[in-house]
Amino acid sequence: MKPRRKGDEEEEELWANSPRKDALLRLIKIVTGVVVFMAGAVLGLSWGVRFNPHIAQTEIFFPTKPYAKECGKVTMNLKDFLEPCHLMHGMTDKELFWRASMVSKIKKYPFNRVPKVAFMFMTEGPLPFFPLWDRFFRGHQGLFTVYVHAYPGYTLKVPETSFFYDHQIPSEKTKRGSISLVDAQKRLLANALLDLSNERFVLLSESCIPVFNFQTIYNYLINSAYSFVQSNDENPIQGHGSYNSRMAPEIKHSQWREGTWWFEVKRSLAVNIVADNKYYSIFRKYCKITCYPDDSYIPTYLNMLDGILNANRTVTWADWSKRGHHPATYGSEDITEGLIQSIRNNGTICTYNSKPSSVCFLFAMKFSPDALEPLLNLASMVMKF
Ligand SMILES: *[C@@H]1O[C@H](CO)[C@@H](O)[C@H](O)[C@H]1NC(C)=O
Ligand SMILES: *[C@@H]1O[C@H](CO)[C@@H](O)[C@H](O)[C@H]1NC(C)=O
Repeated sequence: MKPRRKGDEEEEELWANSPRKDALLRLIKIVTGVVVFMAGAVLGLSWGVRFNPHIAQTEIFFPTKPYAKECGKVTMNLKDFLEPCHLMHGMTDKELFWRASMVSKIKKYPFNRVPKVAFMFMTEGPLPFFPLWDRFFRGHQGLFTVYVHAYPGYTLKVPETSFFYDHQIPSEKTKRGSISLVDAQKRLLANALLDLSNERFVLLSESCIPVFNFQTIYNYLINSAYSFVQSNDENPIQGHGSYNSRMAPEIKHSQWREGTWWFEVKRSLAVNIVADNKYYSIFRKYCKITCYPDDSYIPTYLNMLDGILNANRTVTWADWSKRGHHPATYGSEDITEGLIQSIRNNGTICTYNSKPSSVCFLFAMKFSPDALEPLLNLASMVMKF
């Protein structure tokens, strides 16, 4: 046995026998415990406040409800579901496409649905013809919606009274001949699908103008049994060169279609385009360099799945007579009554709802910004708006 030193014994004795020491120890323990608990609680609550900025401090310390989901003060109603209040949102494309492709199993709408036309503008920057479009839209509120996909970070400079004001959607950079343009087409369609009253979807650009008045264009599109997506089994310039045989067997050579990418589709087709990932992935992988997905993805996809619903022609007039990849651009000196009349009716007879029609083109491109003034001067006389 190890002999115990005197000091040890004294110390032990002191600890064991002092009631004052004992009480002090217990106090220290309690105080430490309380401090640790408070620190934890404060940390936890402040963490909670960081993530729930709507919870007031008093609500945390003196809660009035034991537990509640954060729903805001307003009860959910159908109106909030039918059209978004703000076109800007925080959804990624993946989230947006999923949300936008939802379709009710009940075909009959539980509200008085007035079908609208979604005018979807693709532009890098300004929309020089917004004053012409504003005049075109005026008086027809409730029958249309405007969406603008501009360059990321660009803010459209239009007055608050314009129909384009605050109508930009989240955007990404695009490049001609790359899948990024298909992404932008799908993004525009998906954003427009969030408004359940949108029934027809037209893709336009900053150099496009309407050549008829709103009522004519609205009736033409809303009453059409077909969508207007140009669909050629051969590109007049490149022939079948764009097709990549590695797309087979999912996409056969005979199913391949090309056309101008200024399309018009009805709602059910728009949903299918936004929902498709199978064919989109094949285009993403194999339609490169000599292949233009922006000219071929939608025509090919529609041809494969909904070809019977396509008029196979576009309603956007363009002058391709100069041959090449770009249509001719018309400037201020080219704008005459004759030019606009020839676009409204250039002698071509097309098919509209299985009947011959002389009205084949509703929109026209391309016009340079200096054409605005002469077009505004002609609008009321020639285009009737
Ligand atoms: C458009 O072309 C498809 C075949 O690609 C065809 O089934 C459809 O009937 C055509 N549409 C019209 C209106 O002729
Ligand atoms: C009418 O316009 C279309 C589209 O640009 C063109 O293909 C057609 O040749 C034109 N017709 C006449 C008679 O100019």
